[in-house]
Amino acid sequence: MLGAVEQAMREHSAGSYEMHPKIGVHPTGTDPDNFIHAMPAYLKQLGACGLKWVGGFAKNPPLGLPNVTGIQICNDVDTGIPLAVMDCAYLTGLRTAAVSTVIARRCARADASELALLGCGFQGGMHLRFLLHALPAIQRVRLYDVRPGAVADLAARCRESNGFTGELLPCDSARAALEGAQVISTCTNGDEQIIRPEWFQAGTFGVGIEGGCAYTAGALHQADKFIVDDIPLAEYFQKISLGRKNDRGEDNPEFAGGIPPVHSTIGDIVAGKKSARDNDAERIIAIPIGMAICDIALGHLTLARAREKGDRYARHQGNPQTSHPRPRPRERRRADLPADVSSDHSRGTGIRAPQAPLDSWMNSPWGSTVKTSPPDWSEINPLPKDFTRAESEPIFTRSIRFRACKTASV
Ligand SMILES: NC(=O)c1ccc[n+]([C@@H]2O[C@H](COP(=O)([O-])OP(=O)(O)OC[C@H]3O[C@@H](n4cnc5c(N)ncnc54)[C@H](O)[C@@H]3O)[C@@H](O)[C@H]2O)c1
Repeated sequence: MLGAVEQAMREHSAGSYEMHPKIGVHPTGTDPDNFIHAMPAYLKQLGACGLKWVGGFAKNPPLGLPNVTGIQICNDVDTGIPLAVMDCAYLTGLRTAAVSTVIARRCARADASELALLGCGFQGGMHLRFLLHALPAIQRVRLYDVRPGAVADLAARCRESNGFTGELLPCDSARAALEGAQVISTCTNGDEQIIRPEWFQAGTFGVGIEGGCAYTAGALHQADKFIVDDIPLAEYFQKISLGRKNDRGEDNPEFAGGIPPVHSTIGDIVAGKKSARDNDAERIIAIPIGMAICDIALGHLTLARAREKGDRYARHQGNPQTSHPRPRPRERRRADLPADVSSDHSRGTGIRAPQAPLDSWMNSPWGSTVKTSPPDWSEINPLPKDFTRAESEPIFTRSIRFRACKTASV
């Protein structure tokens, strides 16, 4: 997984990708910060493309629902055909923690033994798992969250599943958590500038996934090296966050005091074009806003793994019907495509192939798992018999507060 993210980072550095600053909608009925983003991406060298459609609704967790949810589509790069639709909530957790880890293992001091984790929700758990794996010198973790029970919950899970034998220290303030930390990971909801300059000691590495929102201007701008995943993304998020307020009415821009001078992108460091840590005293901060190319790379990796497992299972069951060999996208040749989809309209020949007859597509390796008859939605999701239009109305008449939204990054 870290390898797939590193490959995406190298492609970012090489410029062999297509990606756009996230566009989105903001259904602000329950919270002005709610968002759903469309994140398409194409990676040329990896031969992967697709779209993530992901929402962040920070008021969900008290309802027993996840903050971040969504789906992801993987498309075939030669035909455009959707190959898979998958959940992207778990994948986003893996991708975000993997990105933080890829940069942490290059920028944290090799002897860093203390980690502070602020925000012990879903992403906090993922980050703890990945960072402990990648930074084996860590012996003490200080945990802090404003939500009662979150720290104890995560500590228990970490002992159980990570096999971490070091110390896990619950802290009752952010300041206590940061004391002595050489690595700081922030996974909060980003509506509070927590980290003050004097709490971020020389030699520390900090990675924040809530934009730069967890840092005060002083802390952010004292960094010797400031790193982002993508400069246009950082600039876009800074621009749309100007004028944004948090729940207490305080200014809450993506980067307090503006975006500090960028030393490098993560991709350029992974590709060896820019240095990571040059000495033990540097303060380094990395803010990955969240790149679709990483999601799409991991989505295709997941699809490849699922196919391998499915094929192994089918072989085990002695069922050749479901076990057709599927070439990996880069190995697939145009000649392998069904005749009626093989003419190339992506290279501007101007000749569009006739619409592939559904039957031939269904019988091809790409279509064979698709049901031919459309589902009966009324059976799958029946409406209550006494449903009236009036019951649906509150959904549409809910008042919308127009104010700058915290289009948090995912
Ligand atoms: N950069 C990216 O690529 C990326 C990807 C996914 C999610 N995110 C962002 O990461 C954040 C966390 O996502 P999640 O799915 O873990 O949400 P979550 O709701 O599961 O967890 C957030 C946790 O932060 C805690 N918290 C809030 N304010 C805090 C504060 N001031 N101090 C300490 N703890 C605080 C909350 O109590 C909660 O436990 C969100 O802001 C989300 O938008 C970023």
